[in-house]
Amino acid sequence: MSFNPLTEKGIPLDQQLRNWSELNIQPYNKQDVHPYTRTRIITMNGIEVESIFFSHQFARHTSDPDIRKYLAQTRRIEQQQQKAINWLSPGDESPLETTIGYEQVAVDLTAYLARVEPNPYLKQAFEFGLLEDFDHLYRYANLLDLLNGKKAEKLTGDLTEIMPGRATADEHRHPIDEVRQPSDSKKADPFSLLHTMTLVAAEQQTMNFYMTVGNQPMHPLARGLYLEIAEIEEQHVTHYESLLDPTISWFQRDVLHQYNECYLYYSFMQQEPDPRIKQLWELHLNMEIEQLRLACDMLRKYDGKEPEEFLPSSISEPVKFQENKDYIRQVLKDQVNLTGDEIKFVPVSDLPENHRYFQYQETVNQGGVPSQQVIEQHEQQMGNDYKMTTEGKSPLVGV
Ligand SMILES: [Fe+2]
Ligand SMILES: [Fe+2]
Ligand SMILES: [Fe+2]
Ligand SMILES: [Fe+2]
Repeated sequence: MSFNPLTEKGIPLDQQLRNWSELNIQPYNKQDVHPYTRTRIITMNGIEVESIFFSHQFARHTSDPDIRKYLAQTRRIEQQQQKAINWLSPGDESPLETTIGYEQVAVDLTAYLARVEPNPYLKQAFEFGLLEDFDHLYRYANLLDLLNGKKAEKLTGDLTEIMPGRATADEHRHPIDEVRQPSDSKKADPFSLLHTMTLVAAEQQTMNFYMTVGNQPMHPLARGLYLEIAEIEEQHVTHYESLLDPTISWFQRDVLHQYNECYLYYSFMQQEPDPRIKQLWELHLNMEIEQLRLACDMLRKYDGKEPEEFLPSSISEPVKFQENKDYIRQVLKDQVNLTGDEIKFVPVSDLPENHRYFQYQETVNQGGVPSQQVIEQHEQQMGNDYKMTTEGKSPLVGV
């Protein structure tokens, strides 16, 4: 079965506005929500946040009143969509519990997109990021157990293993070693571009979330861990956004954003086991189909371009949240020792002794590293670190 949002009929924009009680949606029950329902919610919240900030940036770069009014109207609906989605998260889910969900998104969404990625450079870039968020999940899981006596597997289920990845302490790199080779959208598979945009949005929302909630805990170790990992999320946003094609127009970008929203709502609607949330994905898909139509009209009017020139002809494979355990173990075994050297990914041992990586490491990691301290304290207080494995020992030596 394939799906083409360009030929579907959506909900007219003037019928998309909802009232407060429709938006103040009943949150999910954190005791019985499916882990991948939580990750789909986190992902779509990030996608809507990106669509809103993209639209604001676009509006700040044009003086044409018609374009500004068009953007204001669709943006107001994107804002309502963001509220309906993010308000599904219940008040009794702590920021640290939600954080576990954010890192589960970063692990399983990135792993899935890396697995299906045809371009070898992008695949490598996705796998590179994957191992880092995989380690963040382990560090935060240890913090959750240490501070609250809660096991992260209560949130992640047995779908995602929790164990060391590329050590967070080793991930701190000089900013210029985070800037990658941009894609050329004229040559690239359109799905590669959409998948990269999805990762940019997910990592950006993770960055925003840690920037906001990271100073809320009382415990200095928790505050330290959030600020350390928040800096890696800045690196990840730089890493993924630098892979995008920077030469395309604002109108083309707008179309791609709306198309990607259609693609993801369509994907998640197929897999959602909770009928109430499935209905929300379907409603939002029908809104996005119309937003896409409007964006395509703007593209034709201002760029003189047809959307079919750069969009996929149809969607046959949805984006999936699924288990990626064996795949992640293989990437871990093969790539844990990699670092960034400008646009390249190289083993740390290949860097010359005077490389800026070592100076950067020395500067930020002197005086103690929260991501290591959380494990040391867990070991001291509970005899060992917290892990959740279903497939046996870690492929890494000494772990
Ligand atoms: Fe949206
Ligand atoms: Fe992360
Ligand atoms: Fe990340
Ligand atoms: Fe949209």
